[in-house]
Order: sequence, then structure tokens, then C-alpha cells
Amino acid sequence: MEIIIVHDADEVGRVAALKIASVVSRKPAAVLGLATGSSPTGIYASLAARVAAGELDFSQASGFALDEYVGIPLEHPESYASVIDRDVVRPLGMDPARVRVPDGRATDIEAAAVDYDQAIAAAGGIDIQILGIGSNGHIGFNEPTSSFASRTRIKTLAPKTREDNARFFDDPSQVPTHCLTQGLGTILDAHEVVLVAQGASKAHAVAGMVEGPLSSMVPGSALQLHQHATVVVDEAAAAELTLADYYRYTYANKPVWQRFE
Ligand code: F6R
Repeated sequence: MEIIIVHDADEVGRVAALKIASVVSRKPAAVLGLATGSSPTGIYASLAARVAAGELDFSQASGFALDEYVGIPLEHPESYASVIDRDVVRPLGMDPARVRVPDGRATDIEAAAVDYDQAIAAAGGIDIQILGIGSNGHIGFNEPTSSFASRTRIKTLAPKTREDNARFFDDPSQVPTHCLTQGLGTILDAHEVVLVAQGASKAHAVAGMVEGPLSSMVPGSALQLHQHATVVVDEAAAAELTLADYYRYTYANKPVWQRFE
């Protein structure tokens, strides 16, 4: 796992965007795994600026969202289908026909989950998966005690996650109780992952993910099993990392040929 500690949230978005840009420049038809929530907004804004400047082109890329709420209408502004369309597809100039979000409205939710994993496999797998981390250590909506082998499936949102996401809704009671999420096994199948975290509220989860034992109690720790995982955090989110100086030293001395910026 590569840990990159940068000064602030803006730099987190800029540095992580460079990683995604390098994948898309190398492979214009790349398959992207798309997180929602606050964490990746700086990535999308940075990539959108480069698209507007004519430096990057996402028109041939495909995308698979990480997750979707179950039980809110497609047109709800906080459905992840709406968020992905508004924050990712339009600003990056992606082809909407190449971007999928799990179908949280399916009458057969189990079949929709199986279908989603099959669609990812049929697309050749995800080239780079963008992730955030919940304050309880979840990635996707794989809440604590999720199996490291899990595939896309329905999950019950933890009370802490519903509380954290209440800021997106008019009333906390409107936060859905369930979601369809890529599993930890699905996420681990991505060729590369880049996880971003900003702010002190993520410091404990980041430390557990990077330096804690492999444990389903911190689902993000599953990334310790991934061969190409990059974690980009600001100083506040890095505050509980015991080897922070080592990560800084490693990044500062990274061989030129390994750099993506
Ligand atoms: C979003 C997702 C979640 C979020 C996490 C952090 O698609 O799957 O794991 O990344 O809940 O949320 P924010 O970024 O809003 O703090």
C-alpha cells in the first residue's frame, strides 16, 4: 500500500486525480470505479478542469458506481444515480450509456447484484477504483463485519453511516436504511485502487485501515491485501498514523520512473 500525505484537502483531490489521469491517458477506454460522497469531489473537480482545458478525454471510458441506496427514487437528487450523473458523467464528458449504477430499485435485488458483478467482469474488470472511507472504516457500504470475500449485495447501513450521511437529506429520517454495494471481494478485484480521506473525523479509520490488523471490524483494512492500493490523505486524516514520517520519506524519495505526476 502506498500512503501519500499531502497538506490539505485540495491537494488530496489534485494528487489522486493525477493517478486517474495517468490511467486514462494510457488507456482511453479505461473502466473506472466511481465513489460518491464528499471525499472524491476534489478528484472529479480536478479531472473536470483538465477535461475543460482539453488535456484529458473520458468519452471512451466506462464507469461503475460503488453503490446505490435502496428505496429512493432514481430522480431523487441524492440517489447515487443522480449524484454520479451530476458530479461525474456530465463534468467529465463521459458517455452516460457507458456508466452504470447498481439498481437499487430492482424488484429482484439479489439478481440485480449478481448482474452488476457480471457486468463489471464483462467490461474486463475495473482499471482503477476510486474510494472514500467512512468514519467507521467502511469502504463502499461494506459496514463493519463485512466479509472480505463479499460480492455486490444488499447491506443495511450502520446507524453511524446514516448519521454521517444525514447532511445530504432534509431530514435524518429520510436517509435510506439499505443499499446495494460492491463487495470487498469486488473492490479487491479492481486492478488498482485509490482511496482518499480528508479531515480529522477520518483519522482513526485511516490508521485502522493502513496500520491495524486485517479485520472485518475495519473493512478498509481489506486493502492491505491489494497489490496496487494508493491512499492519499491530508495532514488531519493522517494524524493517527504511527509511521507517517516513513510514508513522507518514501514519497519524497520515490524513483522518478514510479511517479505518476
Ligand atoms: C460512497 C461510498 C462510501 C463513502 C464514505 C465516505 O460511494 O461508498 O464508502 O466513500 O461513506 O463518505 P464521505 O466521502 O461523504 O465522507
